[in-house]
Amino acid sequence: MATYNLAIELGTSNTVIYVAGLGVALKEPSCIAIETVNKKKVVKCVGTEAKNLVGKTNNSVEVHFPICEGVIYNFQYAKLMLKEFLKKISPSGILKPKKRVVFIHPCGLTRDEKNRIRDLAYALNITTTALIPSTVCALIGMEVEENDPNSHFVLNIGGGVTDISIINNNHIIRGATINVGGNQIDANISDFVKNEFQVILGDNTLEKIKNSVGSLLNNDISSINVVGLEIDTRHRKEIRIFSKDILPIICGAFNKIADACEALLNMCSSEVLSDINKFGVYVCGGVANITGVDKYLSKILNLPVYVDVDPDSSVIMGAGNLLNNQVLLNNICKELKG
Ligand SMILES: Nc1ncnc2c1ncn2[C@@H]1O[C@H](COP(=O)(O)OP(=O)(O)OP(=O)(O)O)[C@@H](O)[C@H]1O
Ligand SMILES: [Mg+2]
Repeated sequence: MATYNLAIELGTSNTVIYVAGLGVALKEPSCIAIETVNKKKVVKCVGTEAKNLVGKTNNSVEVHFPICEGVIYNFQYAKLMLKEFLKKISPSGILKPKKRVVFIHPCGLTRDEKNRIRDLAYALNITTTALIPSTVCALIGMEVEENDPNSHFVLNIGGGVTDISIINNNHIIRGATINVGGNQIDANISDFVKNEFQVILGDNTLEKIKNSVGSLLNNDISSINVVGLEIDTRHRKEIRIFSKDILPIICGAFNKIADACEALLNMCSSEVLSDINKFGVYVCGGVANITGVDKYLSKILNLPVYVDVDPDSSVIMGAGNLLNNQVLLNNICKELKG
């Protein structure tokens, strides 16, 4: 039986690493800054430090997010980024001899996309690799009993994708990954601000707007002041964005998610539907932090909806539970392969 000592969630927005027996050892933006020095490209910094450079670099520095819509998009930069993250959690290389890693991925990855994760692991001298869907981890994080015969509906709304799964006995019986997530909402807020105010905002500012005033409640009165660049004059301009300004954008994203949920529900047997009616929909992922997610989805889907208390951590905590239960972890891996 293989014994895994790390779980890695290589997300579009964030990379999280759980070390068995220790807990979450790293959570940083999936971001790398590359500097050209004497015509050679070198790593300047990764994670939070790199994300803080977005929009603030000179021509010799490029900032990259190598994971796109949940998939390794730039292999070389993903490898360099993860290498630096692993160095951060183990500067002396104590994890080096036996890096056995569980990689968490969106449930809808193709075989090629999964192989890209295995190739990345291989390139980093990871000796054994297990691939587990994010929603399976999230459900295990909810501490559902090991042999629970019921089916459960799990939704993980991240930066690049939304992972939707109906799970029975740690198996996804119906699943889909759709390209709706925080980045798409941020891009739509950018278009809105350009049209409405003729102002260009930076990526980190757009994210701040969504995270501070993004809401699905039509009586939300929160607002935020931000500074951008006026398109015509190229001068700085301060604007105030109200929650209700971006309500149609947030609702639009959640309507797409609800449509995809409905499509999966329509494929389920009455036995599964009866479990889901009883246990409801469990929601996690960074975008689940938006105010009113439970009420909004519950109304459309006509099901009870529960947002996890710490939706950013649900997936990695479930993966941590798996590292503490290597028998279950090995059984899940065997079944996924079989
Ligand atoms: N309070 C908040 N309100 C709304 N969105 C938030 C909030 N906090 C974080 N987010 C958003 O959640 C997203 C990141 O979530 P998460 O870490 O689950 O994604 P990820 O796992 O990296 O991406 P993916 O699973 O799509 O590959 C980002 O778009 C971030 O802006
Ligand atoms: Mg994720």
